[in-house]
Amino acid sequence: MPATPRTIAIDGPAGAGKSTIGALVAERLGYLYLDTGAMYRAVALAASGRGIDPDDGPALGALAGEVRIAIGPPTVRDGRTYTVLLDGTDVTWAIRSADIDRTVSQVARVPAVREAMVAQQRILAGKGRVVMVGRDIGTVVLPKAERKIFLTASAAERAKRRGDELALRGEVRPRQELLHEILRRDQLDSERVVSPLKPAADATVVQTDGLSVGQALDTVLQQITRPGR
Ligand code: DC
Repeated sequence: MPATPRTIAIDGPAGAGKSTIGALVAERLGYLYLDTGAMYRAVALAASGRGIDPDDGPALGALAGEVRIAIGPPTVRDGRTYTVLLDGTDVTWAIRSADIDRTVSQVARVPAVREAMVAQQRILAGKGRVVMVGRDIGTVVLPKAERKIFLTASAAERAKRRGDELALRGEVRPRQELLHEILRRDQLDSERVVSPLKPAADATVVQTDGLSVGQALDTVLQQITRPGR
């Protein structure tokens, strides 16, 4: 296997640092970065805007087939790593609200929603040189990805990171509440019938508790650039 893989899959639970590490890996290697969670969030936002219940599977499936989601390089210098357009409107920050945090796992468990998103993700990965981040990239979306990383951390550590990230944006939330939300999302993401969150059999698991961003990045880059197995 070449030392520079065509496709890199990074999966893991909420708050494990996938987005930060994925974006840095892509920048280092000069690859396209695609955070697939943003796509499910955009569908959840569209659903909320149209008053669709997060439990209404058929309506969500139809919606996922209709909306146009585009993810590209940052168009505004406000700390974003990419810009998300939903039917042409910039929703980069709107998809990060606490409301979307609460409903997105329900939206993401609908099989028709997943089918629509996975089809688009495979097209986007088709040209190669891509770092794709999500929950099911190594298992379902790109089972032939040449490098698969499963990035994880304890729930307590992930709640702390989420709290720090929100505080940077001026939003202060009790740690217990964040922990509760993370555990709820873990449960929904791991127990859903279609594409549950789990490491691919051939993924390298990287535990990031106690690692700085730089240390986690180095560990992941070592795995990605090591000679083939
Ligand atoms: O990574 P995130 O928190 O932005 O993901 C938002 C939600 O989307 C989360 O509940 C899991 C789901 N998701 C998924 O089911 N499959 C993916 N490939 C990416 C995200």
